[in-house]
Amino acid sequence: LKDEKVKVVFNLYDGRRLETEGKVGDTLLDVVVNNDLDIDGYGACEGTLTCSTCHVVLKQPDYDRLPEEAGDEERDMLDLAYGLTDTSRLGCQITLTKDLDGLEVDVPESVNDARS
Ligand code: FES
Repeated sequence: LKDEKVKVVFNLYDGRRLETEGKVGDTLLDVVVNNDLDIDGYGACEGTLTCSTCHVVLKQPDYDRLPEEAGDEERDMLDLAYGLTDTSRLGCQITLTKDLDGLEVDVPESVNDARS
């Protein structure tokens, strides 16, 4: 259904702006995978909360309107992420809702795979 589409923009550290679309219920990681977005090393653990390579930085208003706050496991993993900010989340833990249409996130320069 058309109205289930949610626009998402990934702003990469190298200046690239990837405008794409996901569906309600997808995580940001799903959006990256399903659209075959070229983001180096993104989502290395496939959403199992063991890597932090899916780190994204949100704008404050977007951060505030996310339906779910970061859980303990996500926080622990974020602590290991490179370039952590107050509005950082893990992309594999953000689920798209209709309300998030037009979401823009920054993808920090260096990914830090906590498994390595
Ligand atoms: Fe590894 Fe999100 S994909 S923590």
